Amino acid sequence: MNNLKIGVLSLTAFLTFAGMENITAENIKIDTQNSSLVLQADKGKKLRHLYYGGKITDTDAKNLRPAVGKIYNAYPDYGMTTMPETAIAMIHGDGNMTLDLVVDGVSSRKEDGADIQTITLKDNYYPVIVKVNYKTRPDENVMETWTEITNNEKSPVTLTRFASGYLPIRKGDVWLSSFHGNWGNEAKVTEEPLTRGLKVIKSHEGVRNSRYDHSEVMFSLDGKPDENSGKAIGAALCYGGNYKLRIDTDETDSHHFFAGINEEDSHYKLGKGETFTTPALALAWSDEGIGGVSRSFHKWGRNHKLAHGDKPRKVLLNSWEGVYFDINEKGMADMMKNIASMGGELFVMDDGWFGVKYPRNNDTTGLGDWIVDAKKLPGGIQGLIDEAKKNNISFGIWIEPEMVNSKSELFEKHPEYVVKADHRNLKYGRGKTQLNLDMSNPKVQEIVFNIVDTLMTKYPEIDYIKWDANMDIENHGSQYLPADRQSHLYIDYMKGLEKTLDKIRAKYPDVTIQACASGGGRVNYGILPWFDEFWTSDNTDALQRIYMQWGTSYFFPAIAMASHISAAPNHQTRRTIPIKFRTDVAMSGRLGMEIQPNDMTVQEKEQTKKAINEYKEIRPIVQFGDLYRLMSPYDEKGVASLMYVAPEKDKAVFYWWKTRAFRNEILPKVAMKGLDPDKIYIVKELNSIDNKKLSFEGKSYSGKFLMENGLEMPVNHDLPKDQQTDWSSRVLLLESK
Ligand code: GLA
Repeated sequence: MNNLKIGVLSLTAFLTFAGMENITAENIKIDTQNSSLVLQADKGKKLRHLYYGGKITDTDAKNLRPAVGKIYNAYPDYGMTTMPETAIAMIHGDGNMTLDLVVDGVSSRKEDGADIQTITLKDNYYPVIVKVNYKTRPDENVMETWTEITNNEKSPVTLTRFASGYLPIRKGDVWLSSFHGNWGNEAKVTEEPLTRGLKVIKSHEGVRNSRYDHSEVMFSLDGKPDENSGKAIGAALCYGGNYKLRIDTDETDSHHFFAGINEEDSHYKLGKGETFTTPALALAWSDEGIGGVSRSFHKWGRNHKLAHGDKPRKVLLNSWEGVYFDINEKGMADMMKNIASMGGELFVMDDGWFGVKYPRNNDTTGLGDWIVDAKKLPGGIQGLIDEAKKNNISFGIWIEPEMVNSKSELFEKHPEYVVKADHRNLKYGRGKTQLNLDMSNPKVQEIVFNIVDTLMTKYPEIDYIKWDANMDIENHGSQYLPADRQSHLYIDYMKGLEKTLDKIRAKYPDVTIQACASGGGRVNYGILPWFDEFWTSDNTDALQRIYMQWGTSYFFPAIAMASHISAAPNHQTRRTIPIKFRTDVAMSGRLGMEIQPNDMTVQEKEQTKKAINEYKEIRPIVQFGDLYRLMSPYDEKGVASLMYVAPEKDKAVFYWWKTRAFRNEILPKVAMKGLDPDKIYIVKELNSIDNKKLSFEGKSYSGKFLMENGLEMPVNHDLPKDQQTDWSSRVLLLESK
């Protein structure tokens, strides 16, 4: 049975031995498919953390004994201990700053096929209730934890710290993997051993919260992170706003991990009877290294987090890098014809299509006025949809609903709708005119809902929306929130956005929506429930994408990772990479194009058409298969490689990219992973360009051989001299006989 309360058991013997107080305790075991979390929940006592690791039996859980020394509170509260970092702190109505939370009861319930265990804590003096929740599913390795904090005091209390969860991680040789970067360089992997002191990873952007640092981390418990072996824990804070992850390595035997909303500048007042619910912290444990954690998150993400995680994604062309703001009817029609002729299934018109009084010809005008610019598009949106239909493809559109330009009709009419601090001049973002709409304001929520509702009501055939967000909250002030609730802005913005997205999804459950925020600024499980996918980065350079997609893949599945073939030289790096390599990288995620097809040669178009066709063949494996990262680009061995294996292990796709060209460098051979050792696989190269077939083309090998040895990749492509370049890559389909 899942999630057992182990019953009342006596810890007296041990605790006496350990020199601690005599208590009787009730252990609660919370199980995922492969892991257990055990808590000691003795009524009237502190809730204690006993264990998080591989799945254990009820007997083991019953006999679990805390280490000699400290047993850590499972949800550390501030004020009555010396623990420097805590999960929760508040100022009571009378000014008292302490909490003393003890167990009041334990309950469980089922919700949507998930088991939810709730431990209710109450303060032993003040009428404050904290519910600590754990959500698990019998067929998933990921568990979620979050809390609900209720104030029953007569006057408001102020929450000054409100983490979603806490986990002590036993010291040993624990390493941290985290993800950092900047615009165009998102999600780069950092690995480091945890050393003494406080490590903080946080966002203060308000909106684009994965732009610089990610709210997901992995802990490798047995030394330097390894893809396949060693114990590892993955943690993802599922929140689209400001977050803070803290890892405190102090004098105790454990590293102390806390994750939650960033409380800086966000102290939250709770009136009598009000409840504050924290976002979920998702945790997964693995004894198959960090690769095991990734696979668990991918499966759970597809099944339970992102929208339509069970539906294959269409191959699309997005207009942005092809024409930027230069939208016109002929240009759009051309692009549609082109993508259809190459086998694409969807066309997405990006920025530049709207604005009447303030046409959107560049990034300085128009946001807020979501009315088609009839000068550019006389046939309107319907004309474009009809054109798409003629080409037998679907149509999608770009919007940036949470934002407004000062040069817009919306701002002229309603300057009170923007995020702005009293007595301060506005600070502008993109285009030196961009501002955030104040999503904490219900009227603004209505406007944002109506943007989508109007489009979808008028044009129900819109199949795809790219929802962008290109500005951080820079003016800390709400013209809607009262003076004593100004510190709620960041949190209430997110609440307002979530409410609006709920309403949109309730009415339009089927439309595909991409989360974009200046590239990879919204790559987060907190935002994904309403979105099908994310734009991984505005940087489409294939070489740099290998690094960024590598980092992104630690927590997010390929089905959600938009990856587009773009022009050469690349618009962000100016690097010139042949179409073969650009395609081979894009084919390892959700394949799309972002290029002016009119600038492609006939040969490039033919090659792309073939590749799109072949991608359709491997799409189920890439989008629903298990990822095995084989050789990391960060190891700088000259090669990066990964593969996806179908759940039945009857099919797999192997990717191999040369990441540098050094003369006479011996590149490492890459052994495969995740195959069935007893199955025999036939090898077929996809997107091939060589004159001669690969020596192993069409040949069969056992899974055992492929996993122990791998195949020798030729370092270069076999091409006529004038077509040779320093780039080389391979995509192989493996099918069992
Ligand atoms: C952001 C997005 C781009 C594009 C532009 C349009 O930068 O990340 O993909 O949509 O906005 O202005």
